[in-house]
Amino acid sequence: MKKHIVIFEVVGGTDKGPNGYRPDTMPIVKSIEKRGWTAEVIFYSHEKKDEILKHVSDTADAYLSRINPGNLTDEANYFDMLRKLYDNGVKEMPHPDVMIHLGAKDVLVKLRDTDLVPDDTFAYYDIETFKNSFPKTLLYGERVLKQNRGSTGEGIWRVQLVDQLIDVEAIPLTAKVKCTEAKDNHVEYHKLGDFLTFCEQYIKGDNGMLIDMPFLPRIKEGEIRLLMLHRTPVNVVHKKPANQKDAFSTTLFSGAQYRYDATSDWPDLVDLFISNLSTITNKLGNLDLPLIWTADFMLDTDKRGNDVYILGEMNCSCVGFTSELSLSEDIADEIISILAPQYA
Ligand SMILES: Nc1ncnc2c1ncn2[C@@H]1O[C@H](COP(=O)(O)OP(=O)(O)O)[C@@H](O)[C@H]1O
Ligand SMILES: [Mg+2]
Repeated sequence: MKKHIVIFEVVGGTDKGPNGYRPDTMPIVKSIEKRGWTAEVIFYSHEKKDEILKHVSDTADAYLSRINPGNLTDEANYFDMLRKLYDNGVKEMPHPDVMIHLGAKDVLVKLRDTDLVPDDTFAYYDIETFKNSFPKTLLYGERVLKQNRGSTGEGIWRVQLVDQLIDVEAIPLTAKVKCTEAKDNHVEYHKLGDFLTFCEQYIKGDNGMLIDMPFLPRIKEGEIRLLMLHRTPVNVVHKKPANQKDAFSTTLFSGAQYRYDATSDWPDLVDLFISNLSTITNKLGNLDLPLIWTADFMLDTDKRGNDVYILGEMNCSCVGFTSELSLSEDIADEIISILAPQYA
């Protein structure tokens, strides 16, 4: 046991504090040091990849990745280095495949056979399938189309048919649709066919895809974010959309209200999610869950009138906890208990 942890960051991006680090990174370093271990922060760059790989393989028990892949010019190269570290026995926090699969929106489709996701949730990876399928799924009712990239509600569209149609097998491409974007709740009206063509941009390019799921009207009551420390929910952020017609966005930018709750305020959700952790691990190829990650839920009502929680997305690449920096103590404890239960 080397009793040394490496934290990866990358230079640049909007998530950095005045000292160049993410504001919640040095608190983790200090908490690790308080426990008699050591930690260092390394800024990843492609040029230094081999040097970093050797240094971390030689000196560290684990790496903690705190990089928004959107801030990397060479994501594949970074992931390649993490894979080699894993092969060299450095404990992964998390494995790149976990970042890729858990963080992508199509994880919803992978979890469709659980209670966390509605049965009529689909992923489209090619334009033809998207254009053939969406006019049929829109028959079920209001839908949400989600792009995979970004995390600001951009390219997340609520789609409603303006005039109800009867006796059709698919909504005609000439039908008028009302489209509301989660970024800022702005509304646009289009012919369905034109809107589908506009959405092609979300499918093109790296990691392009569109998720098609039912619109859940109880989003009005808020989105519920569980902050997870490995297998344990540690706090809840309740994000209530602005109180305006059409508002369904939970970004602060759009006027949503945030409230910080204890996990004990949401016992049913906590139990539900914990009972699904082994299924999630299983779908991720039995790789370990991330150290710090989030899962976002919306309320729905089942046929018997009971509340159910529907998963909207998960994040694990660059989750911050600046609103509660004291969590660094629990994070350090968790790292040590994963690596060396005898020290915890
Ligand atoms: N099925 C849905 N029903 C109602 N609102 C939704 C649905 N899916 C997403 N939203 C709303 O859109 C927002 C953005 O969607 P999300 O999947 O979280 O993408 P992003 O990566 O942009 O955060 C959510 O925070 C929520 O307010
Ligand atoms: Mg979101």
